[in-house]
Amino acid sequence: MRGKLAAGNWKMNGVAAELSEIEALAAAIGTPACEVLICPPATLINRMAAISGDSVKIGGQDCHAAASGAHTGDVSAAMLADAGASHVIVGHSERRADHGEDDAAVQAKALAALAAGLVAVVCVGETLEERETGRTLGVIATQLDGSVPDLASGDTIVVAYEPVWAIGTGLTPTLAQIGEVHDFIRANLEARLGAGVGGTIKLLYGGSVKPGNAAEIFAVSNVDGALVGGASLKAADFGAIVNALAAA
Ligand code: PGA
Repeated sequence: MRGKLAAGNWKMNGVAAELSEIEALAAAIGTPACEVLICPPATLINRMAAISGDSVKIGGQDCHAAASGAHTGDVSAAMLADAGASHVIVGHSERRADHGEDDAAVQAKALAALAAGLVAVVCVGETLEERETGRTLGVIATQLDGSVPDLASGDTIVVAYEPVWAIGTGLTPTLAQIGEVHDFIRANLEARLGAGVGGTIKLLYGGSVKPGNAAEIFAVSNVDGALVGGASLKAADFGAIVNALAAA
């Protein structure tokens, strides 16, 4: 059976003063009936992992595809693991847009994550223009085929569906639109990897998830959790989302 995962992406936010949010989060959620992950900036991973407790896992927001070498400013998956991370996000749309990462680059990062023993959270999602011109499912299929490695399993890969136009905008797709894409992703993964594997990969929805809309999103078929940006920065908000998922 698939588990559930509430993942927070702090993006380029957070210094040592915000570490108290992790202690508050741990207190707010107790021992929830779902996995909980926070991906802070790389500078906080080590300190956050030291205080996050058993219920909150820590992840990176990106990794380099190589294990080590002359790549100034980059961080490898092995370094994230060494700092205390269990997961890493790869292929977030902000990385794809800001750093020109294509599907092949994202897959290489996912493979590096697996090699370092990390779970890779692979992000896919259409732009507004792609949705408005009826290309959503085709775009998602291309991204899945190119970004998700053949080695994927339920223990090593999570897929996050994040419509680019819903990230940080307060806009969300309708529940029917979320369900359509999640069912499509599930069918795609099952067709490619076999039902035994494709059926075990957690699918997260991301894009303007808040305490007020979390429960209805978690009730949608094939939604196994969320990847949360802005609302993960405050323990009270993210704790409410975690508790909604645990109750779903
Ligand atoms: P948001 O970001 O929750 O602030 O929309 C989601 C994400 O980028 O993962």
